[in-house]
Amino acid sequence: MPVITEIEDLRRIYRRRVPKMFYDYAESGSWTEQTFRENTSDFEEIRLRQRIAVDMAGRSTATQLVGEDVAMPVALAPVGLLGMQSADGEIKAARAAEQFGVPFTLSTMSICSIEDVASHTSKPFWFQVYTLKDDDFMKRLFARAKEAKCSALVITVDLQVMGQRHRDVKNGLSAPPKLTPASIANLATKVPWGLEMLQTKRRFFGNIIGHAKGVKDPSSLGSWTAEAFDPSLDWARIKQFRDWWDGPVILKGILDEEDAKQAINVGADAIVVSNHGGRQLDGALSSIRMLPRIMDAVGDKTEVHLDSGIRSGQDILKAVALGAKGTMVGRAFVYGLGAMGQEGVKKSLDVLHKELDTTMALCGERDVKDLGRHNLLMPEDFETRWR
Ligand code: GLV
Repeated sequence: MPVITEIEDLRRIYRRRVPKMFYDYAESGSWTEQTFRENTSDFEEIRLRQRIAVDMAGRSTATQLVGEDVAMPVALAPVGLLGMQSADGEIKAARAAEQFGVPFTLSTMSICSIEDVASHTSKPFWFQVYTLKDDDFMKRLFARAKEAKCSALVITVDLQVMGQRHRDVKNGLSAPPKLTPASIANLATKVPWGLEMLQTKRRFFGNIIGHAKGVKDPSSLGSWTAEAFDPSLDWARIKQFRDWWDGPVILKGILDEEDAKQAINVGADAIVVSNHGGRQLDGALSSIRMLPRIMDAVGDKTEVHLDSGIRSGQDILKAVALGAKGTMVGRAFVYGLGAMGQEGVKKSLDVLHKELDTTMALCGERDVKDLGRHNLLMPEDFETRWR
């Protein structure tokens, strides 16, 4: 058993174990990947203020997200194709989240279906939807999520059209993988992954196959998004989706103060400041750099969460100190899932928690709810360099 001390250890094992097509899917940003890179490098620009000789005993990272008790200010972000990173990946990740005490968000583009994940878990999870054209399909998704007792709906609002990730196009990304000379040569080096995959029936998009009409190539995420997504989305349509769900709604993919205000107008219970992990608009600023402006605009009116770029407990602390009530982690748990399944996701959460807890102590804080700007040392122009 390798010694895992940081998220990067899990990424290295993940890369060796999982077919290139799926590793690349997770590890890509769009076009030049500038935003993808800056999501992490901007966290490094923020430094922490060390305090000593304060009582650090009895620390707590517990808080609440949209009214739910959580063990730390983290939820697992919706990530497509988890069941290709590891057989039955959505079930494994949901179980690890449940074990740890943080919410799991099931993506519409999951391999295991809503019903399947619900029947293999015992706590409610969150469900993510895209803003699609097909009303029937959307309404059925909402009803299925209700039936499965999902406790919150996450609406992804930054994917009307899909940003191009070059490697997905070059690899011919699909679920299950299409067999080409290149993919066969790569799969031949991933025997443990393949043996596990042969033992499950869950190898297709479980929420879509048999539910969405007129999908020409149901194995291809690219072609489904091109056909089904609604390029003419507007706020009235988002309000309609909001009103179809009689529970907490989280709008994910807000990166601008004006959009944050609109999100409140349509009745969002929380927003996620996000650039979709650098996978959509390349050239957008990082989420952490946009967070202070958005906090100034709406921080007293709604719950603000942040994703894109979180790879450590220190990053979680920085986001929370800047005002986020919670964070979402995507890649940080996908590495764990691909590296060692359910145990790996649990390991990712343990690593993040330990880092957050110890960093809080060294900053002289006992309660995650007391974190604030006083814990940070920021470059003077962090928020204003680009206006
Ligand atoms: C889908 O949301 C993706 O980022 O691939």
